[in-house]
Amino acid sequence: MEKVCVIGASGKLGQYMVGQALDRGYEVVGVCRERSVGKLTRFADRITVVPGPTNDPEVIRKAVAGCDGVLTVLVPWGVRQYSSGTAQAVLDHAEPGARLVFSCGWHISRDGLDRYSWRFRTGVRVATRLAKLARVVEIDDQVEACRRIFDSDRRWTVVRGSDLEEGESQGLPVWSRHVGDPILASNLTRRVDFALFMVEALTDDSLVREAPAIVGRLSESALAAQ
Ligand SMILES: NC(=O)c1ccc[n+]([C@@H]2O[C@H](COP(=O)([O-])OP(=O)(O)OC[C@H]3O[C@@H](n4cnc5c(N)ncnc54)[C@H](OP(=O)(O)O)[C@@H]3O)[C@@H](O)[C@H]2O)c1
Repeated sequence: MEKVCVIGASGKLGQYMVGQALDRGYEVVGVCRERSVGKLTRFADRITVVPGPTNDPEVIRKAVAGCDGVLTVLVPWGVRQYSSGTAQAVLDHAEPGARLVFSCGWHISRDGLDRYSWRFRTGVRVATRLAKLARVVEIDDQVEACRRIFDSDRRWTVVRGSDLEEGESQGLPVWSRHVGDPILASNLTRRVDFALFMVEALTDDSLVREAPAIVGRLSESALAAQ
């Protein structure tokens, strides 16, 4: 891994990933909206920034050229297929053989075998409807984005984050294939460690075509499972 692109670099998760990729000595290209370029000033002389919407195929084509790895923050903002457009642009334009790592939440299910609590399911259903009505967020489109990734023969990993909190790193999160597995019960990960898992996945071939659901390694359920 020599050159890595972070798509959604200006967000909280994105900035952590940029920092961790630089710490590993990778050359970093970041994509973010034009208005958010200022959020990356502390990295300014160490990364290349390609400003623009992450669902613009031309922006993505330019940013991922020559990259061995692409870290994509999938966000379903607005009602304009932002997530699926972003995922599609990465799938279409990343270098052949590049490691593609995408972020999403536990609500995404790869094989339908996740076991969600009644509370979780109701929360997602209500949030999906309300957010769509308000035209702010299109959670369905993140589902569509992941469907396209799961169907692709690229070297992808979809990292499914639990609820997140800020705080110092606790180390690499633990993971399981299905929500509902006891190890995940605590449903809490430090955001900095979500980023760590994404960056580590770039060089972990055992995660190719996996959709790990993650939880903090020091969370109660993770400790109980050890
Ligand atoms: N938040 C949670 O509790 C949680 C839980 C589980 C999984 N996740 C997953 O974690 C990832 C990051 O989530 P996060 O909550 O931590 O967010 P985040 O890192 O702060 O990232 C938000 C991203 O969305 C962009 N954005 C914000 N408003 C936008 C708009 N109107 N149009 C286009 N882009 C916009 C931001 O770009 P700008 O810098 O340009 O604003 C930024 O890149 C996502 O894949 C999410 O599904 C989150």
